[in-house]
This record gives sequence, structure tokens and C-alpha cells, in this order.
Amino acid sequence: MIWASSPSWRTGSSSCAAARSSSMERQSACWRARRIRIRAICWLWRPYWASRCLSRCRPMNGASCRLRHIRRHKAGLAGGQRKRRLYMLVARHIQKQYIQRRWLGQPLITRAVNGVTLGLRPGETVGLVGESGSGKSTLARCMALLEPVSGGSLHWNGNDITRASFQEARELRRSIQLIFQDPVDALNPRLTVERILTEPLYHFGIGSAQERRDRARLAIERVGLTGGLLSRYPGELSRGQCQRVNIARALMAEPQILICDEIISALDVSTGAQIIRLLLDLQQKYGYGYLFISHDLARVMQVSRRIAVMCEGEVVEMRESAGFHLKAEHPYTRSLLAAVPKLPVPAANRLN
Ligand SMILES: Nc1ncnc2c1ncn2[C@@H]1O[C@H](COP(=O)(O)OP(=O)(O)O)[C@@H](O)[C@H]1O
Ligand SMILES: [Mg+2]
Repeated sequence: MIWASSPSWRTGSSSCAAARSSSMERQSACWRARRIRIRAICWLWRPYWASRCLSRCRPMNGASCRLRHIRRHKAGLAGGQRKRRLYMLVARHIQKQYIQRRWLGQPLITRAVNGVTLGLRPGETVGLVGESGSGKSTLARCMALLEPVSGGSLHWNGNDITRASFQEARELRRSIQLIFQDPVDALNPRLTVERILTEPLYHFGIGSAQERRDRARLAIERVGLTGGLLSRYPGELSRGQCQRVNIARALMAEPQILICDEIISALDVSTGAQIIRLLLDLQQKYGYGYLFISHDLARVMQVSRRIAVMCEGEVVEMRESAGFHLKAEHPYTRSLLAAVPKLPVPAANRLN
């Protein structure tokens, strides 16, 4: 029988009862000590657990991320001082190759971007400068998720978006808008300005038809044009006005990062200066982060806080724009600096 060999406390004798109570006391003392130890450990590790819980509780959906960044940005701007801001869009070791297959012989491989690392923060302008064919536009298209990358990774608010699904990429493109070089080519000549501006909202399914029209009017006024232009076609606008419409279209989706790919190179100097002033005003009001791409180093030094120099698909130098002309080391950057025109023009450089 199992009960025959059962322990003495089951038999109910008085000596066994005493033994039982002493063993229970020992057990409860042991448990008390253990509880005290656990409490002490919890108390010591309090900051660690608190930070873990907070980081887990933080919702990572788009709306709250956006709110947090807007709040952070406002704090940074209102204070009028430079605060530490987190990178919003980061490209890490981005590579992009174009492979042209041919019937005969080896496929032709063009390495347009070769291991570029670049981070963009809200409210900050990063300048990207380089000669024609150095891969600036390709990098811009990759960062705007318009083209898949061949290597490296892209991160948005710390989340890897390199292999974002079609739907995720579509949603992200609202926050990262690209403005193209040629203002006229970038607009559909068959659509009125109003249709051009309301199209992104229609595409993303935002608002009713009347709301979209109201927002188009607001956007066109934000970029310094009048509502009367809404009924016009791109062919009836000047180049400068077309570029303002392009900027307004990019703003319609309420972006956080604007990638400006040589947006003033097709404009005359004064119109280009007006567009730059507009971009800076918009940045101060709404806190957009810019990637300002140009082959004009003087212009880039004027508008950017940090400057990346690109040559043959690689970023060869990355510096703060303050004192850039003194600190630049790479021979290619030095040659770009030497090519910046100075006033008055030395007689030796004048064309007769
Ligand atoms: N779709 C494409 N197919 C093949 N090669 C391309 C394509 N787009 C760009 N390239 C090549 O990539 C290189 C970089 O081009 P691009 O990014 O337009 O330079 P940038 O904007 O600096 O002038 C160039 O050599 C160009 O010929
Ligand atoms: Mg280009």
C-alpha cells in the first residue's frame, strides 16, 4: 500500500505535528527571505524595467510617430537652438546597379550608387552635391522608394523599410516626397493645376471632392500663388510657377521629408532664389526635412546644414556646412570648391 509508507505527518501523532509546524516555519522564513531578495532586485533594476516598459508601450503607428516628430521639431524650432534630433530617414550602405542584358556577350552593369550612407532629420537640410552622372538622382529615387535598392538598407524612424510591401511603400511615399528637376516635364500637360494638386489626395483616398479642392487652394496659396491659377494648364504657366505647383503637389500629401532633385537648375537665378526662400519659409513653418540635391556647391553651402559630396556613386566627404570650404579634404571636393565663381571675377578667368 502506498499509504503504509507515507510520511509521519500523515499519521497525526503529536511529535510529528511539532516537526511539521517547525518545518512549515522554516519554509515560510525561507519564502520571506526570497520575497525580500526579489523586491531588492526589482528596486535596484527599477530604471531598467521602466525604460523597457516604456519602449514597449510606445505605439509605432504612423500617426503617433508623426505627432512625436512634429512635437520634437516644434520644441527645437521654438527654442531657437539646435537640439539633438533623431534621424527620420536613413540610407545605410545603399547600392544600386542597373543590369542591361544583351543577346550576345556579358550583361552591361552600371553601378550608379555604391554603398552610400546618409541620414535625414526633420527640420534639417542636407545638401548633396556632385557632378552629373555621380548617382544623385538614383539615390534620391531609392530613398523616395520609387526604385528598389540592390544592396544595403533603408530605415524610417528606426524601422527597416528596405523590403516594405507594396501597401507599406505606398503609405511611406506620402511622408517622403520627391520634387523633380524639370518643372514642366514633371506636370501632366493635359490636367489643370487643380486636378494635378488633388490627384495625390485622390490616390491616397483622402477627403471628399470638395475637401480636396479646398486643400488644393490652400496649398497653392502656401507656395505664393493665387487661387486663380487652379483652372490653368501647365502650358499656361511660367517655369517658376510650374516649380511652385510641383512643390504644392508634394505638400498635398503632408510629407515630412522632401527630396529636391536639382529643382532650381532649370530656373533663372532670381526665380531659383525665390524658390529657395519659399523652401526655407516652409521649413520654418512646418518643419520639413530636405535633401537638397544640386551640382552647384555654392548654392548647397548656402542652404544646407550638412553637405555630402558624391563622386562616382560614393559619398567621398560629409561635413557640416559651417566652415566647409576650410575643412574639406577630399581632392574632388577641393576641385568643386575651386570651381565656385568668386566676385569680382579675376581678369585671368574672363572670357574675351
Ligand atoms: N534607368 C537606368 N538604367 C541604366 N543606367 C542608369 C539608369 N538611371 C541612371 N543610370 C546611370 O546611373 C548613373 C547615375 O545617374 P544619375 O543618378 O541620373 O546621376 P546624376 O543625377 O548624379 O546626374 C549614370 O551613369 C546613368 O547613366
Ligand atoms: Mg540627376
